[in-house]
Amino acid sequence: MSREELAARRFFIHTFGCQMNVHDSEQLASIMTEAGYERAPDVSQAGIILVNTCSIRAKVAQKIVSQLGRYRRWKERNPKVIMGVGGCLAQHWGREMLVKAPYVDLVFGTHAFHEAPRLIDAVRAGGGPVLDAAFREEIPSLGIHAAVTNGNGTTKHQALVTIMQGCDNFCAYCVVPYLRGRERSRPAAEIVREVETLVGQGIREVTLLGQNVNSYGRGLREETDFPRLLTMINRISGLERIRFTTSHPKDMTEGLIDCFGGLEKLCEHIHLPFQAGSDRVLARMRRGYTREDYLGRIAALRRRCPDIAISADVMVGFPGETEEDFQATLALMEEVRFDNLFSFMYSEREGTEAASFGDKVPEKERNRRLRILQELQDRHAWERNRALIGKEVEVLVDGTSRNDPRELTGRTRTNKIVNFAGPLRLRGEILALRISDAYLHSLRGELKPPEALLVHKSPEAVHVHKPPEAVLVHKPPEAIHVHKPLEAVHVHKPLEAINVHKPLEAVLGRK
Ligand code: SAH
Ligand code: SF4
Ligand code: F3S
Repeated sequence: MSREELAARRFFIHTFGCQMNVHDSEQLASIMTEAGYERAPDVSQAGIILVNTCSIRAKVAQKIVSQLGRYRRWKERNPKVIMGVGGCLAQHWGREMLVKAPYVDLVFGTHAFHEAPRLIDAVRAGGGPVLDAAFREEIPSLGIHAAVTNGNGTTKHQALVTIMQGCDNFCAYCVVPYLRGRERSRPAAEIVREVETLVGQGIREVTLLGQNVNSYGRGLREETDFPRLLTMINRISGLERIRFTTSHPKDMTEGLIDCFGGLEKLCEHIHLPFQAGSDRVLARMRRGYTREDYLGRIAALRRRCPDIAISADVMVGFPGETEEDFQATLALMEEVRFDNLFSFMYSEREGTEAASFGDKVPEKERNRRLRILQELQDRHAWERNRALIGKEVEVLVDGTSRNDPRELTGRTRTNKIVNFAGPLRLRGEILALRISDAYLHSLRGELKPPEALLVHKSPEAVHVHKPPEAVLVHKPPEAIHVHKPLEAVHVHKPLEAINVHKPLEAVLGRK
């Protein structure tokens, strides 16, 4: 096969936006692979560049347009390259995308991912750019199973699973309902089957995805809801951890609050966006709850599950937000003390209700409020993380740390990042770590060895499967086999042999 023929079969996906987009891209990769294409190791070896886009804020859209410009230069040098733009911004702009970025060959909306191979054929057949931004009743890609390997071919231990699509909430600032269409839930049995298959392939943790998972089940023929779905998934053997995102405070029921602490696989973390702390702003946003409702749900969650970590989204500078409203947001933060907060400056989105509101907050003021809010949040995150020093946590090991390849990284059940020293073979394991230090956005941990192993009588052999800090041997066994690294072996009487299969230095020194 010539270089050119090979490149024509290779695709590269660049993803912007939320976890739903990340998952859509995983499914797109599976759709392309099924159709006979393969993933390019990097963009320079791809004949097809697919950009999965987001339109949540104007800044995100700008960033995407600049990225498209960079790919354009690449395409100018390699005219056979096909450039496709899909997802939310493609849906938002539709044909306009071909005016704003005339070098794009293909525009596919949020409901057209399963059509990608056919649309690429149409581009190759010639006749100009191709567009599919139609909304569909049924979205076939919803049921498509994404591969459980990372882009680099290693197996994953966590997977995203879509449980619903679309959104019916129409918050006054938000474009999502216009871009993703009406809310649709997938049948529970289908979701359970998908999770079972994933577990069979080595997945230990799933994150259930939807814009508003609390309203799962609405419109389905079967009698079900989100707590029932969680209970079914909790029963799947081999699965260790369940997460979900995003919850909407207005649909946060007692039944769901009871799942925390009640379902052992459900992790002690909730992402519950509050957006604003002032009732006046919340009402204008059409959020459907008050500040008191929100705080009541947080209190109920903490009663049920005292160690639960709480994260949220918040916005500053929504039209009409006064200094007093803004202070109410800061006061709510003081009351809750979030573990993590995603904060945004309000951004006007064409077609939304708030775009027609007259009382805009000037950009300079929005910037000032955001800065103050983020400083407060940094203080809270720091305090919440520092309080974990000395505590024992359970971590699912993701792999090597991005900042230091000699380090491992993982997440606690409360969704905090922990970096620690340890051998790469621990990838995918669930371990107990002791937190030794804490920062703003991550923790440092240590593998927790047993204090000491005392061997009073000399057996034929001692097999040590987990690394204690020390092994004290009072009488000589014939041999000590150490399968995992020890920090030290104190031998009071001579041994015939110590077989150390993996000494500490050697394991830590390995990349
Ligand atoms: N479905 C989720 C959120 C999806 S969008 C939910 O309702 O919680 C993610 C976050 O982006 C929102 O929570 C909101 O804080 C922010 N966001 C959405 N539209 C925005 C806009 N027009 N300007 C600024 N931030 C926005
Ligand atoms: Fe947007 Fe509101 Fe729907 Fe979230 S719930 S996606 S903020 S409309
Ligand atoms: Fe963006 Fe679409 Fe997600 S607009 S935030 S990618 S649903």
